[in-house]
Amino acid sequence: MNNSPIGVFDSGIGGLTVVKEIRKVLPGEDIIYLGDTARLPYGTKSTESIIQFSRENTKFLIDRGVKYIVIACYSSTSVALEILQKEIEIPIIGVIKPGVKKALELTRNKRIGVIGTTLTIHSGAYERAFQEFSSDVEVIGRACPLFVPLVEEGFTQHRATELIAREYLEPLQKDNIDTLLLGCTHYPLLLKIIKKIMGPINYVDASKELSKELAKSLAEKNLLNPSGKGNITVYLTDLSINFKEIAERFLGAPLKNYFRASLSSNKEKGGV
Ligand code: DGL
Repeated sequence: MNNSPIGVFDSGIGGLTVVKEIRKVLPGEDIIYLGDTARLPYGTKSTESIIQFSRENTKFLIDRGVKYIVIACYSSTSVALEILQKEIEIPIIGVIKPGVKKALELTRNKRIGVIGTTLTIHSGAYERAFQEFSSDVEVIGRACPLFVPLVEEGFTQHRATELIAREYLEPLQKDNIDTLLLGCTHYPLLLKIIKKIMGPINYVDASKELSKELAKSLAEKNLLNPSGKGNITVYLTDLSINFKEIAERFLGAPLKNYFRASLSSNKEKGGV
């Protein structure tokens, strides 16, 4: 089991930002990544659909012999993590709680902002997670649905993005928050613009915290791989024209080993 890979899934390739952080903390671990690019975005869809997609993604990874599952997608984590935790045998972790714990460590005035997709914000998952660890924080959520397509388009420094970000973030600014959680895979790529608007407050990108928690949990469960080579295999349910360029931007490294995956038949086709 120790030599088995870690399975990571996301609605698309944005979750490679999480893989990037896992690699920094666990450079020897092999990773199988599944990005459900054919059905992206998840953040604008219904809870029922995302639970179903998350089950299919989990099955795909378990069929490939992973020892641990990481849900890199905030939308999936919001609605499906607790359900999957009850349904599967292997350990599974999501991106919400690690970020919540970090935000509680950082806040002084106990006013915390959360930005995410419409599904994440409306699910109430962040409020529930905060309540689990603290009873006296004010959580102010804000859905920023246009951020995902802007990042996918490469508009991370664009003035159109700044204009839209102002529209979304100015109400949060007035709420006097001292900590902002980036509750979506794509938002760390917009950090420069977000900081320009929100100023010198604390920013939490949960992928760093998740990677540390994952390393701790692997060690506790005796699941660390001492002889791994840090291989990353990427499966995507759709290979769009520019997916490789976008994936490399998220991963911060060249993408070498990728395949098209079909979830219905659970078989991959083609590949490089
Ligand atoms: N991965 C999604 C998330 O973190 C963003 C993209 C989508 O809406 O599918 O919520």
